[in-house]
Amino acid sequence: MSSRRDPVRLAVRLSLATPLVALLAACGGSPTGPSAGPQPGPDPAPAPVASLRAAAASRGLSYGCAVGAAQLVEDAAFASLVARECGIVVPVSELKWQALRPTEASFNFVGSDRVMRFAEENGLRMRGHTLVWHEALPGWFAGSATPANAAALLDDHIATVVGRYAGRVHSWDVVNEAVEPAHGRADGLRDTPWLRLLGPEYIDHAFRAAAAADPSAVLVYNENWLEYSTSAPKRRAVLELLRGMRSRGVPVHALGIQAHLNPRHTLDVAGLRAFVDEVAALGLQVIVTEMDVTDEALPGDPAVRDEAVAELYSRFLGAVLGQTRTTTVITWGLSDRYTWLNTARPREDGLPVRALPFDQGLGQKAAYQAVGRSLSQAPAR
Ligand code: XIL
Repeated sequence: MSSRRDPVRLAVRLSLATPLVALLAACGGSPTGPSAGPQPGPDPAPAPVASLRAAAASRGLSYGCAVGAAQLVEDAAFASLVARECGIVVPVSELKWQALRPTEASFNFVGSDRVMRFAEENGLRMRGHTLVWHEALPGWFAGSATPANAAALLDDHIATVVGRYAGRVHSWDVVNEAVEPAHGRADGLRDTPWLRLLGPEYIDHAFRAAAAADPSAVLVYNENWLEYSTSAPKRRAVLELLRGMRSRGVPVHALGIQAHLNPRHTLDVAGLRAFVDEVAALGLQVIVTEMDVTDEALPGDPAVRDEAVAELYSRFLGAVLGQTRTTTVITWGLSDRYTWLNTARPREDGLPVRALPFDQGLGQKAAYQAVGRSLSQAPAR
């Protein structure tokens, strides 16, 4: 891509040049010295990104990351990086049933309260993840939940958890990963404990309960595997689900696109663009909720790997940020020091994964610049 045809970089060059011109004029000098000819000089480096938070805010977007409560408590350097780079955080696991519900009769809010306190002390928003998911259910769940008590169990959970933070949470992932066309149902829903207990109505039910507990939160349907050339059936089923919910007056406000990106699969940029446009046409926001890049299929060389990771971030964000109803971008972690991919998707060569904007030493990587540029060059909203 030629920077001379790139209006953003051109604007950067002009804005960098202006003060120099003024300074030289004030000193009686000229901006064009003896070696300066009519040819433009080498392209200046792209404008440095002050922070991902600022890059996003410059376009009316929010940027943030998933964090663990323990990371914030035990790692001061990491915590201040989060506070500097993010406008919003989400607890990675502290709001899942497994963490919140040690027993059927009790709630444990220690971890989620810590993340909330960190957010509020640092002027960040917090989002909630997640109220209904087929994973991260506590051990007691299978033995206790029955078709007769499941609705009350769900209502009580949502009223207690959402109610505790009412008015303080930006958005809730109310239902996570409920669609799986490969499970063979006509409605495309995934076969989950919640579906077996309550039928397909569990989704509407959960959204209504969340809206009752916090009328100010953005209520999100969150889904994975939406971005690839093999994702068309899932995108169709998700659109059907959202369309049905809207037509029934269910309070769903946004689609969450997880965006666990993997260069092993073919990113379907055109399909993704069309999809976010269709979601927007339903009157919904789009939130990128869990973005990271699995590097298992990339070469070991860190420089080569980092460029490939950065390039995938750029292509994905280019596809979704063109739609101005995309409001928020969250990465699933901020530094390679803490990424679930080291255990979930370890590399065969045993090298640590390089999935996120910052490396293990909290240094910026190519991914940081790629995410920063994608945010700061997105159309304003
Ligand atoms: C992951 C966490 O990052 C891990 O630490 C945990 O062991 C498993 O869950 N999709 C989701 C997230 O919606 O909740 C998952 O988080 C990653 C995939």
